Amino acid sequence: MCGIFAYAGTENAVPFLIDGLRSVEYRGYDSAGIAVIGGDGKIQIARRGDHKASLENLAAAVGKGHLPGVASGMAGLVGIGHTRWATHGEVNQKNAHPHSSSDGLVAIAHNGIIENFLELKDELVDSGIEFKSDTDSEVFAHLVGRGVANGSSLRESVVGAARRIKGNAAVVALSALEPDTVVGLRVGNAGGIVIGTSAKTDASVMASDTIALLPFTNEVIYLEPGEIVEIERGVIRLFDLEGTPIDREPVRVNQNFEAAKKGKYPDFMSKEIAEQPDAIQGALRGRADFAAGTLDLPEITLTRDQINAIDRVVLTGMGTSLHAGMFGASVIESLTRIPAVAENSSELRYRNPVLGPNTLVVAVTQSGETADTLAAMEQARQAGSPQVVVLEMEGSQATRIADFTLPVRAGQEIGVASTKTMIASMTTLLELAVFLAQSRGAIDSEQVKKIVEMLAELPSLVASVLDIDGKITSLAERLSGFSDLLYLGRGAQLPIALEGALKMKELAYIHAEGYAAGEMKHGVNALLGPEMATVVCAPKNDLYEKMLSNISEVKARGSEVAAIATEGDDTVGRLADHVIHVPDCPGLLQPFLTVVPLQMLAYRTALVLGRDPDKPRNLAKTVTVE
Ligand code: F6R
Repeated sequence: MCGIFAYAGTENAVPFLIDGLRSVEYRGYDSAGIAVIGGDGKIQIARRGDHKASLENLAAAVGKGHLPGVASGMAGLVGIGHTRWATHGEVNQKNAHPHSSSDGLVAIAHNGIIENFLELKDELVDSGIEFKSDTDSEVFAHLVGRGVANGSSLRESVVGAARRIKGNAAVVALSALEPDTVVGLRVGNAGGIVIGTSAKTDASVMASDTIALLPFTNEVIYLEPGEIVEIERGVIRLFDLEGTPIDREPVRVNQNFEAAKKGKYPDFMSKEIAEQPDAIQGALRGRADFAAGTLDLPEITLTRDQINAIDRVVLTGMGTSLHAGMFGASVIESLTRIPAVAENSSELRYRNPVLGPNTLVVAVTQSGETADTLAAMEQARQAGSPQVVVLEMEGSQATRIADFTLPVRAGQEIGVASTKTMIASMTTLLELAVFLAQSRGAIDSEQVKKIVEMLAELPSLVASVLDIDGKITSLAERLSGFSDLLYLGRGAQLPIALEGALKMKELAYIHAEGYAAGEMKHGVNALLGPEMATVVCAPKNDLYEKMLSNISEVKARGSEVAAIATEGDDTVGRLADHVIHVPDCPGLLQPFLTVVPLQMLAYRTALVLGRDPDKPRNLAKTVTVE
């Protein structure tokens, strides 16, 4: 989704803006642009709408920039940059941000959707303004431009524009009349804005992601919805929309910029798949005590009475996080005996769900900024439900809505498709299930000890699955020839089958359906035939025999079958065409082991087909609009 970076310092802003955009580019983008206030006091804008090549083409076009006073080239000490992910208007140069007001005095970059933009555009066109793009964002530039032309400050003009729009917005703005300042605004839950100042150079910076600030500082301030900020070199001033100053101390962030680089791996996807044993360890750290055989979640300070009062658990999230949530629902229900369901946030937010003080809501989100997930969380907050968020990005908006935050601590995930954050979320949800079950007396300390002993083995079990890469590569070569795939699972393997299909769709662009294996006879069997291959999750567990029958039924209808099975199991091998074995382990841990080969399969298939595994087409890492 769109990314923002802004700089106000003592050096030429251009290279900083380009580097800043490089660090937010992973969110998904198709265009890029920057605006600076040049040595002549005028706003200069450079933009590209060349899809994935936009940022590198932009960087090449502006070169390293020149210092102010030098006659040619783009330079300035203050500037804004944007990576666009198209929502209104196709991908091209005129729709790339920043957008400027008609008199060229103002430039803005916007993340979010202006829902009433047609109405505002009509009004602006009627007043004689000519639009240069098809975007909703350009109305914001003209509204701010009108305020500045009428003598208001940049900040007042941005607030004035914010009062006219409906929807969500994170905006950065420049005015040629205030050449030292960048203004940032946040309304609604779209995209965050993080602000910081470098202790070394005094440069003040602002971005949609903390990671873009780490080369400058790790002491950051998060802008809340309904707040506006002015940055100048070495200065950060926060206000609410009424103009009242806000005093907020910076918070220290622990993300490590170096760790977010690829290191020895060819891409982030392979790095992040390989980091999964560490991601699990991160989620267990400080919670599971392997020596004592105990588990605690110090982050959750609900009293025993409050926990006993919970009569329903609703888990919510989108995409991969929803699949982690489905796994969470199954373990929470089975260990605590409290009814638990997982629901897609985009559905939950528009229903009129029964939520109340006895419903525990558990949101799962890597970014903590997904628009639908935040809206569902907001609804739960209004219903008075106690709320836990399981997430990677600490300090994101979701942490401010939830009552309790359980960081999954997988480490920054850059690949658009989630892998390590899913496995760390599943680990954290399993810990939550154990914590709730023990607090309610549904399991005793002996049972907790057994689970903790199992969890101690989990990182090395997952590490051993990573060794099967060779076998996965030949299966990927085979499956890359199909245009339709079916993924089947039952019980705790159903979310894994859904996730395997999602990964294959997003990374390899192959149509893949995930289904509950029991659904086959109710319609899906009609699809079976040699043109569709089937991937079956069939580890040895209570539902194993049922899965064997499914494999036979699929084979009988001419579909090629690849199965994920338990090491030492020869039966699946006799039925299926291809078998990937994962280590034998207790049923509770099986989903952690079966999801990994499915991620690897999608990754390898993407490579066979020449796709970019880190940046699948049409997708964004952080989906800040619905
Ligand atoms: C798929 C994927 C997405 C995200 C979804 C929710 O690989 O990554 O489906 O899981 O967009 O994002 P978060 O977890 O940030 O709320």
